[in-house]
Amino acid sequence: METPALEQIQPDTDAFKEVLRLRKSCRGFLERPVADHLITSVLEDAQLAPSNCNTQPWETHIVSGEKLKELSAALLKQNEAGRFSPDFTFDVEEYHGRYQERYFNLGKTMYEAFDVKREDKAGRKEVSDLNYKFFNAPHVVIPFMPSFGDNVRAGGDIGMYGQTFLLSLTAHGLAGIPQTALGFFAGTIKEILNVPNELKMMFGISFGYADPNAPGNSFKLGRDPISRTVTFHP
Ligand SMILES: Cc1cc2nc3c(=O)[nH]c(=O)nc-3n(C[C@H](O)[C@H](O)[C@H](O)COP(=O)(O)O)c2cc1C
Repeated sequence: METPALEQIQPDTDAFKEVLRLRKSCRGFLERPVADHLITSVLEDAQLAPSNCNTQPWETHIVSGEKLKELSAALLKQNEAGRFSPDFTFDVEEYHGRYQERYFNLGKTMYEAFDVKREDKAGRKEVSDLNYKFFNAPHVVIPFMPSFGDNVRAGGDIGMYGQTFLLSLTAHGLAGIPQTALGFFAGTIKEILNVPNELKMMFGISFGYADPNAPGNSFKLGRDPISRTVTFHP
């Protein structure tokens, strides 16, 4: 079939908007694994993400089955021991003003959904540990990246890749959650997956079929109106 000229293509705006609005971070998956051909289809979509100078700086690993169990056990152990091995710094204390407000709102919404009180430290840890059980997902994707300079450009590209991957999951009836929490143990993950240390890790995305009854899926985060975030220069 001949590829139509760009001006002849009428993209389906409604379908796109629906996918965009359906996507949300999934914090509770069914055990059901995703068929290989669907994973391939999502990976092929993500591969179309734009990147600085078309460098495509993602070296993607998909972890499933026994290897995922091994990874989970190692992450829970390292987390218990406080043995962090991140490639990049991350400190929520650095959030300020409206960014901090939004962060607090996420925490409040999430712990309410899990019925955990603010002062219940053990309960909060239990919820946060779900990150290291991949929220029960059967798969995790980790887009490792090469290191260029201060890594900001490649980091942005990885973000583009991640969002394309997430939207494609939604379009395939699947769900996912990006997890910086996994990046806190980049060293451990690279060791287990036999990934060279020169490659860096920002986050992983657990994915699979959403469990509609999971408490972690009982809410949807809102966004500020664009009037708060956009400045027009007419
Ligand atoms: C790069 C990135 C890392 C994230 N890391 C985590 C994480 O470690 N654990 C978690 O529960 N959610 C994590 N999230 C999900 C955010 O909390 C979520 O995207 C945000 O609250 C907006 O909600 P929504 O994705 O449902 O629209 C992350 C999101 C992004 C984009």
